[in-house]
Amino acid sequence: MRIRIVGGTIVDPGRYVGPGEILIVDGRIAAVYRGDGTGPPPPEDAGAPHRILDARQKIVTPGLVDLHVHLREPGFEHKETIASGCRAAVSGGFTAVCCMANTRPVNDEPEVTRHILSRAAQVGLARVYPAAAVTKGLEGRELCDHAALKAVGAAALSDDGRPLVDSRLMRRALEIGAELGLPVIAHCEDPYLAAEGVMNEGPTAAELGLPGIPNACESIMVLRDIALSELTGAPVHIAHVSTAESVRAIREAKSRGVRVTAETAPHYFLLTEEAVRRHGANAKMNPPLRRPRDREALREGLADGTIDVIATDHAPHAPAEKAAGLREAPNGVIGLETALALSLGLVEEKILSIEVLIEKISVNPLRILGKDCGIVPGYDADLTIIDRQARFVITEDLIRSKSRNTPFIGMPAYGRAVATIVGGRIVYEYGKDAFRGK
Ligand code: DOR
Ligand code: ZN
Repeated sequence: MRIRIVGGTIVDPGRYVGPGEILIVDGRIAAVYRGDGTGPPPPEDAGAPHRILDARQKIVTPGLVDLHVHLREPGFEHKETIASGCRAAVSGGFTAVCCMANTRPVNDEPEVTRHILSRAAQVGLARVYPAAAVTKGLEGRELCDHAALKAVGAAALSDDGRPLVDSRLMRRALEIGAELGLPVIAHCEDPYLAAEGVMNEGPTAAELGLPGIPNACESIMVLRDIALSELTGAPVHIAHVSTAESVRAIREAKSRGVRVTAETAPHYFLLTEEAVRRHGANAKMNPPLRRPRDREALREGLADGTIDVIATDHAPHAPAEKAAGLREAPNGVIGLETALALSLGLVEEKILSIEVLIEKISVNPLRILGKDCGIVPGYDADLTIIDRQARFVITEDLIRSKSRNTPFIGMPAYGRAVATIVGGRIVYEYGKDAFRGK
């Protein structure tokens, strides 16, 4: 099977940005022909391609990778399944997702990891990299057998959804993660300080009569995990950064050479606590939306490299669950279908260059997972073709997830994925809403 992608602008961060053609043969990148005159032109007889993809006026990037999603299977199939989550992923341009372990049963045993991987292989859309739990049942008491989990395909370690409060266990987890080459993804929250909070602590919560969650709830644990990374020399990845104080702590740690990486999500760099008034439970997540100064600090952190990754924390919940009201509704918003369109707004606003955006949504997440990334001969042909000129308003019909909990309906979009290619297979094409799984 040969595919040729012609006429596009290649954006392969750190390697090449410019016009070019890409030849895919049998699932892998076979050749990249730079159109800027620095390499040989495509040969006339490159072999008859089975398919030519016209990428004129489009950019071609390494496949987008979402380092933080909840696919809900096994156990919560009424919210999402591996199939529906992967459809959402590829329609949003993602060729791979890293799924968190807070399923039922928790992904704390090799059998569960294997099950997730075999379902993902059957679906055959996005690649799925399962994060296994750090502690059994996410209970923060006893470490899982991480070597056994890695042996069957776990790609990261995280108790996401819950903080790991026991610092001694976290220290041990960082050491084991480093030894096994598995990133530890930290959900930073002091549960005592969070208490019964349901939104950001501040005047809006006071006005609405709702219990709040202060910024320190997050930054206390960010500072602890930085200290533990320093103590052990092991890397740590901070999930869903939402506050100015966390950004400052991570920036300072990086400047001292601490091996810390961090992610934030579109809702944190686009929205503030005000969104809770309008969207109610569809703007409720953990950590919560913060104040304008936090949103500003996140944008600065993205721009200066403090924040390495844009992830979605795609967290589907069924409409009936979200209808329970702000106090009772579960935390989380979906994001796979909208993250690219919204993040391209940062390029529009000149906060990030397109190259740096692709770094944060593709290259860096894969680097953190310790995997090859880029448009390089011999690598898997995982690619996303993006129309940066598309302008539209986000509507419900973009949603492929089983759930609809998003505060982004009505927001402007600054581009879209028009084709998603995984292992040389075109698994999604915009406008032809057929998902080509295996
Ligand atoms: O908003 C959130 N939703 N935050 C989390 O930490 C967990 C996630 C979920 O699983 O719904
Ligand atoms: Zn989390």
